[in-house]
Amino acid sequence: MSHFVAPSLLAADFRRLDRAIELVNTSEADWFHLDVMDGRFVPNISFGQFIIEQIAERAEKYVDVHLMIEDPGRYIDSFARAGATGITVHAEACTHLHRVIQQMKEAGVKAGVALNPHTPVAHLENVIEDLDVVLIMTVNPGFGGQKFIYQSIPKVRQMADLIAVHNSRAVIEVDGGIGLQNAQKVLEAGARVLVAGSAVFGADDPAGVIAQLKAIDTNPVSYV
Ligand code: DX5
Ligand code: ZN
Repeated sequence: MSHFVAPSLLAADFRRLDRAIELVNTSEADWFHLDVMDGRFVPNISFGQFIIEQIAERAEKYVDVHLMIEDPGRYIDSFARAGATGITVHAEACTHLHRVIQQMKEAGVKAGVALNPHTPVAHLENVIEDLDVVLIMTVNPGFGGQKFIYQSIPKVRQMADLIAVHNSRAVIEVDGGIGLQNAQKVLEAGARVLVAGSAVFGADDPAGVIAQLKAIDTNPVSYV
């Protein structure tokens, strides 16, 4: 099964958002990754429903909304109405995670849960069967352009095992510091969706980087 590439628009030039949208639409990318930050759950503040609605109207691909906000249950319906295909909430931001997952299902969006680097995989053991997406943060959330945390690779493997044991349909998404230098390793560990912000939008040829990320072969044919 091949993998997906999800450029994070956080790293795009917002003076020309139309160009970034066009780039994702016309490239080999699979998902738009949109990072919502509230200045509470993470130190930074980014954008909300208003901007997402503008993007989603023009997006011809899956709209992946990553909520880095406290108590995200308050906003599931409004982000669904703004045009999200899937919403991902942070486990650490939800007192009643099970309820928030049901809210996402009722709103008709794919249900995702993200884990910060310190949160153990086992935290999702009792909800994994309800999830479409598990997002393993490979940096501490809040900013683009940070350094990939290498301990994330065994964590992706542990999550792949948990998903297999529970026969869950969930796909593993990785987010933070992902680029051509580590994408193969995370894919081999079991990731299916690669989020990439600065590796794509910081490049001279963003569509070329997306194509290279898509072309990574995780099952190289052995000739011996
Ligand atoms: C970080 C965000 C990421 C960010 C990734 O908190 O969740 O989606 O945009 O950016 P890079 O790929 O530059 O680490
Ligand atoms: Zn993100």
